[in-house]
Amino acid sequence: MKKEIIVAGIRASGKLHIGNYLGALKQFVELQNDPAKDCYFFIADLHGLTTPFEPSDLSKTILDVTAAYLAAGIDPDKCVFFPQSQVLEHAQLAWIFNCLLPLGELERMTQYKDKARQHKENINAGLLTYPALMAADILMYKGEAVPVGEDQVQHVELARVVARKFNNRFGKTFPEPKTFLREPLRIMSLADPDKKMSKTPHQSLRSGAGQAGDDGCIFLDDTPLEIHRKLKKAVTASESGKKSPGEENLMLLLAHFGKTDGIRHFTEAQNSGTLKYSELKQALAESISEYFTPFREKKKELLARPEYLARVLAQGAAKAAQIARETMLEVKEKIGLV
Ligand code: TRP
Repeated sequence: MKKEIIVAGIRASGKLHIGNYLGALKQFVELQNDPAKDCYFFIADLHGLTTPFEPSDLSKTILDVTAAYLAAGIDPDKCVFFPQSQVLEHAQLAWIFNCLLPLGELERMTQYKDKARQHKENINAGLLTYPALMAADILMYKGEAVPVGEDQVQHVELARVVARKFNNRFGKTFPEPKTFLREPLRIMSLADPDKKMSKTPHQSLRSGAGQAGDDGCIFLDDTPLEIHRKLKKAVTASESGKKSPGEENLMLLLAHFGKTDGIRHFTEAQNSGTLKYSELKQALAESISEYFTPFREKKKELLARPEYLARVLAQGAAKAAQIARETMLEVKEKIGLV
């Protein structure tokens, strides 16, 4: 039986938080373990160049994300795991797609409009043609299903447009990939539970309040001490008569990270109106700390072996490149470049 081809890119932009874990990493591990699926997971380092970065941080960030994915259970023997920039064909196919995509289609992408607004000083062309590269990432491996968050759905739709255009003009080559919307899971900020948990502090963006935003976010690397401190401060207040969004968020986290007994206990307390936030926060901090103990240890071990990480990435890139070369040969033949 033919396996379903899954392609997903990982944006390597620093520290991962528990929302990223539940919304992406955990699902990737499940997909890789499904024998009916053939998975390509890559670090979208070329896409990373579209927003401001420091050259001295870039390779460190890539190794850090690699260690995090491996520590979370990504197994390079069960999927193809590689950095996008090491498979040269991605940029080449992206160029060909750039020449097929009408400018208007790119200009109406919401992410482009948002980012152009956010980074006024750096509205580079890569920001605009981002979806052409993303289409290349997916179609290179003839990806059929693309697990992404809601913000990327429009880009996957554009990949379908590209596939259709290419097929119509040059003959059937690519499948039209469908989005595989990740569980619409909304883990909210602990400090500001009306906003999504995010590594960019919401407050500090506006007022330069620094630390405050970070306290809303539990990173996978946080020590138990930090996890306890952040949860202790978690906002649970509600407007009178309304449900507390902070409480809902903590209960959602408990459902994912808690033990069966704890979940039952606090759900009952919630239903009978006897829920004590301090107890819930304490139990949740313990559960989250414990849940990620093996992750923290594994990641530390991996980071101590940067040559090993580099080797994993290079081997993944070599596997991906075999397929990429075949696709490019087919593409070039179809468009008359060879
Ligand atoms: N743009 C995606 C994101 O921000 C990352 C990405 C790049 C991607 N190429 C991809 C996702 C291809 C899925 C398929 O999350």
